[in-house]
Amino acid sequence: MTGASDGNSSSAGYSDSASDLTRMTDAGPDALAAYYDNWAGSYDADLPRMGYEAPKRAASIMVEQGVPFDAPILDAGCGTGLTGLELATAGYSDITGIDLSLESLQAAEAKDVYRHLKKRDMNKTLAFGDNGFAAVQCIGTLTYVREIKQLFSEFCRVVKRGGIVCFTQRSDLYDDAFTKAIHATTKAKKWELISHSEPMPYLPNHEDFADKKHIFYDVYRVK
Ligand SMILES: C[S@@+](CC[C@H](N)C(=O)[O-])C[C@H]1O[C@@H](n2cnc3c(N)ncnc32)[C@H](O)[C@@H]1O
Repeated sequence: MTGASDGNSSSAGYSDSASDLTRMTDAGPDALAAYYDNWAGSYDADLPRMGYEAPKRAASIMVEQGVPFDAPILDAGCGTGLTGLELATAGYSDITGIDLSLESLQAAEAKDVYRHLKKRDMNKTLAFGDNGFAAVQCIGTLTYVREIKQLFSEFCRVVKRGGIVCFTQRSDLYDDAFTKAIHATTKAKKWELISHSEPMPYLPNHEDFADKKHIFYDVYRVK
């Protein structure tokens, strides 16, 4: 972990919440909501300091995949809205965000780039109708989801046929169980692989991540 801190910010220049990030990997929904509620006020300042580029990269994947700019996109685990902001900057105008953390959702709302924002637990069914989105992106969030296979099915249900599912997953969590959930979704003919990236930098300026934990970007087409 990052070294001594004076209470609100660490020696690395970002907040204590950011320093505690790896500790939360196994936390349950209530603890996660509390953690991200607490971090919401400083998250947007911390993430750029840690070298976080995933929101921008995810938005460019949507553009590369030809997702129309006026099409509805679900930002699953939107947090404070850094991901929605990059989608809007890329030209997207119909973005729905869901997250566990109310304070994060409020920070997302203040960015004025989401059409809808809802508090949802992605370990449960998503409570959207079938085929309502052209794409879903889930960036920096699968770390915390326990019902991965169910969530992948839900993504394929709420995205229309031919639509895009884009997610990131940490290299240390891209394990057998995670791969099995992907393969089960593929075997059930719910999606087909478009691309699986090389391991990419995640939080290169955070000492718990830097050279130790990378992320993969996966892109699927819904069948
Ligand atoms: C690292 S943040 C990523 C936020 C945003 N996608 C980004 O890239 O900045 C992870 C987010 O996942 C949310 N989260 C964790 N578990 C969740 C769950 N089961 N359902 C919905 N959101 C969840 C947290 O509240 C947090 O906002």
